[in-house]
Amino acid sequence: MARPKPATKAAKPRRTALTHTIADFEPAFWPDEEPVDNAVVMTMGALHEGHAALVRAARKAVGPDGRVAVTVFVNPLQFGQGEDLDRYPRTLAADVRLAEENGADVVFAPLPEEVYPNGTPQVRITAGPMGERYEGATRPGHFDGVLTVVAKFLHITDPDYAFFGEKDAQQLAVVQRMVADLDFDVEVVGVPTVREPDGLALSSRNRYLSEQDRTHALALSQALFAGRDVAAQGPKAVREAAAAVLGGGEGVTLDYLALIDPDDFEEAADDFQGEAVLAVAAKVGTTRLIDNVRIIVR
Ligand code: PAJ
Repeated sequence: MARPKPATKAAKPRRTALTHTIADFEPAFWPDEEPVDNAVVMTMGALHEGHAALVRAARKAVGPDGRVAVTVFVNPLQFGQGEDLDRYPRTLAADVRLAEENGADVVFAPLPEEVYPNGTPQVRITAGPMGERYEGATRPGHFDGVLTVVAKFLHITDPDYAFFGEKDAQQLAVVQRMVADLDFDVEVVGVPTVREPDGLALSSRNRYLSEQDRTHALALSQALFAGRDVAAQGPKAVREAAAAVLGGGEGVTLDYLALIDPDDFEEAADDFQGEAVLAVAAKVGTTRLIDNVRIIVR
């Protein structure tokens, strides 16, 4: 008689290989002759439960025998002058543990010289007008830097699936657009935002928040939830409800609050109906935070 299969085959323990060069990564990611599904989760490290959700989703998509890679690379190309490139948290040993606990086979953590062996790349991917609004308006060139490194990592890892968080809604949108417009052979999958119990979206940058900032930061998610609560009343009601919460938000300097059509990342018109992204960006103390919720506007 056949032995019953273990119920949680996906949870089989695995050792995650840590690689730093493309030459080491490739055989670690594709050790078998047999072709299996594979997936990549790209990160800048300082991993938290939001990243963990992406790794678990990747493992689920490829099954217990598929391959999951996590890239950890603080990409200088996507940071502007005066941004936090130099102080961005680096916690590689803990990152490898988190990746392993959530089902990754390989972590690829290259140095900038490995990713950009010819120095700053001359040829880059541009996100176009979609990358110039909202985050792109405040961070010129940011999405070009993101897409350039995402394209490179898609070439290096050659995955069936690539997982991105809805937390960075505009990033997800421009990556999806790049894959469609430039015929990348990969399925891009969005994963819902993971939040603290009180609503704050998890972010590697939350560790910069003082205790007081942490309290003030709640205004962002509360504003989004207030907008979501009145989604059935249309775009104007959504904007007003969210703005009312942020207006009273102490210690928060608003960058933008917008109701956005997720396909082209344009501001939704007053008669917009359907799935929209209600997005906010603000400085809390010295830390710039972003958040969004997906809502169905009627
Ligand atoms: P990073 O900020 O490290 O985020 C890596 C991935 O984790 C992104 O897809 C992001 O949307 C997702 N993520 C972050 N916080 C999340 C949360 N609370 N819930 C769900 N997903 C979350 O985004 C980047 O790195 C970089 O721009 C990168 C794509 C790696 C290119 O350099």
